[in-house]
Amino acid sequence: MKLIAGNSNIVLSEHISNYLDVPLTQCNIKRFNDKEIFLEILENIRGQDTFFVQSTSYPANDHLMELLIAIDALRRGSARRITAVMPYFGYARQDRKTGGRTPISAKLVANLITAAGADRVLTLELHAGQIQGFFDIPVDNLSAIPVFKAHIEEKFNGEPLCVVSPDVGGVVRARKLAKRINADLAIIDKRREKAGVSEVMNVIGEVKGKVCILVDDIVDSGGTLCNAAIALEEQGAKEVHSYVVHGVLSGQAVERIESSPLKTMVITDSIQATEEIKNSKSIQQISIATLVGEAAKRIHEERSVSELF
Ligand code: R5P
Repeated sequence: MKLIAGNSNIVLSEHISNYLDVPLTQCNIKRFNDKEIFLEILENIRGQDTFFVQSTSYPANDHLMELLIAIDALRRGSARRITAVMPYFGYARQDRKTGGRTPISAKLVANLITAAGADRVLTLELHAGQIQGFFDIPVDNLSAIPVFKAHIEEKFNGEPLCVVSPDVGGVVRARKLAKRINADLAIIDKRREKAGVSEVMNVIGEVKGKVCILVDDIVDSGGTLCNAAIALEEQGAKEVHSYVVHGVLSGQAVERIESSPLKTMVITDSIQATEEIKNSKSIQQISIATLVGEAAKRIHEERSVSELF
């Protein structure tokens, strides 16, 4: 088994390497003056089961290109099997045509990864499970729910909780978590009655006096979760916390979260944290290295991955 780290999340790759007790394969990734990527794997990988770890997070296009080039290098180096380990699968939100003459970029990315030569993909909490079907190679889509469950049970220690989906699209995920931790479920239904009129947030479910846990796959600008937290506060929630798998956190997101009614936000390390995130008093990062490492191990040993969740 060979584990190789792309540049997007070296810290996570090192943690996965420690968990597996498999050293990171030496690899030289550099940029030419015009920013073209050059990559050289410095160890023999002929006949090996190879795992290239790369989140296609910011800068998404550079990290995606680096992944594609790495897959090509592995293929040409005669790796027996190539698994693209993508803790965060960028472009996943573009999973359908949103209007006339718009792309389905998630499908394009799936095509690129397959054409480059990947044999399988290991990812975490895809924005929509159907993206697995964009590939004709096996995709293992890990769930972060067991990691969240363990953290919530320790943090809230038996306190009655209400899991809240910040939008209708996230209900399946929220329901799964609510069931696992024996909590109530509520849903926020955002509606814009007329164009140009601001969105109305309807809270479906009883949240008054309850500790609410908002759960989502991605926090990007923070708008969805901060607005949801305001709506929950207005409905009398006792406290609002959030658990999000992928902390994209672009622009002023950290500042926005810190000045919102969200008491805490827990994100995973699927995307490497910036200094601003690390220094934030509201945001805490928990690791999915063990989960991803164990899944990679099971793929290598041809054992069940779904048993993990
Ligand atoms: C949308 O469907 C996703 O699940 C997230 O809710 C969304 O991407 C979050 O984006 P933002 O933080 O910019 O509101």
